[in-house]
Amino acid sequence: MVSLIKTLQFAVVLHIVRGALFNKSQTMSSSLSMMKQTGNFHTSHNNEVFLLNVGGELMYATRDTLTYIPNTVLSSVILSTTENRSKLIQHDENGRIFIDLPPILFKHALEQLRRWKNRGNISADREILPPSWHVKNEFDEMLISLGLAKYRQNLPIECTLYNVSDDPSRHVGTGGGTLCDRDLVGWTRFIDRAGNVIVRQAPGIGCGGQKSGWLLGTYPTEPWTTTLSTLCYTDEMRIPCRAWTPIRTTHCGSFLVFELRSPPFCPARVCTDDYNLN
Ligand SMILES: *[C@@H]1O[C@H](CO)[C@@H](O)[C@H](O)[C@H]1NC(C)=O
Ligand SMILES: *[C@@H]1O[C@H](CO)[C@@H](O)[C@H](O)[C@H]1NC(C)=O
Ligand SMILES: *[C@@H]1O[C@H](CO)[C@@H](O)[C@H](O)[C@H]1NC(C)=O
Ligand SMILES: *[C@@H]1O[C@H](CO)[C@@H](O)[C@H](O)[C@H]1NC(C)=O
Repeated sequence: MVSLIKTLQFAVVLHIVRGALFNKSQTMSSSLSMMKQTGNFHTSHNNEVFLLNVGGELMYATRDTLTYIPNTVLSSVILSTTENRSKLIQHDENGRIFIDLPPILFKHALEQLRRWKNRGNISADREILPPSWHVKNEFDEMLISLGLAKYRQNLPIECTLYNVSDDPSRHVGTGGGTLCDRDLVGWTRFIDRAGNVIVRQAPGIGCGGQKSGWLLGTYPTEPWTTTLSTLCYTDEMRIPCRAWTPIRTTHCGSFLVFELRSPPFCPARVCTDDYNLN
């Protein structure tokens, strides 16, 4: 019995798709009902529609969408010989193709592939973005398991490669000193008792140095974006922007990184504070 079902899998899938078509399921698109009327559902090979059970949720996809990127788990769905299909593809109790992945994430990826397929400009197909940066890791894992690893969203390099400063003496309000940031250069993330951002107001007192660096500008608000602003340095007389350097700030989802240059004079330090990113 089981082997009979296995040999009939492909036919069963098509039959069930057709059944859903005639039952006017809610998810049925108007193009599907047109296909029913014109009767080309079976004859038009390129527009064959597949019904997938993804983690318990039913989704339709055309052959064109599934095979738009060749040699993936999705493109193997259309193979009639089960031995060539990906191991990720099983069948549910109704003989439908079952893909054991989170439906929300899968649907999001499928919709992007569908848009790419409809746009039909392969050179513009670059990254399949996650629905939100909160699920980026999960989403990327799914893309890898589907054979779509090369379409993962590239993060700005500074979000993975940065220096860290946790020095509490640079937190705003700690008072002056003789320290200088000469060696604090490149992409830097502030953590722990150092706070997590460079302050955006000229500090009244130093933070480990006599002169204080502060950011004149705004923090980026969208993940994976970078803003360019000015890093001002006060002098001993508290002139707010006695000297300055350009500074880039990148939003890395749950934290910010700042691209620092050597201060224009010593003893000067960038002052930091605690900031709620959300
Ligand atoms: C379509 O409707 C018929 C009759 O109500 C039912 O027997 C059949 O199982 C339905 N097919 C699907 C795929 O829901
Ligand atoms: C299926 O796999 C076999 C052996 O791995 C190969 O010879 C055959 O060409 C494959 N068929 C398809 C449709 O990819
Ligand atoms: C296809 O995408 C490339 C890269 O984004 C773009 O330069 C080109 O104009 C697009 N072609 C069409 C026909 O839209
Ligand atoms: C980290 O700091 C060193 C100097 O202390 C610098 O050479 C390097 O480029 C910095 N790393 C990054 C990722 O900016």
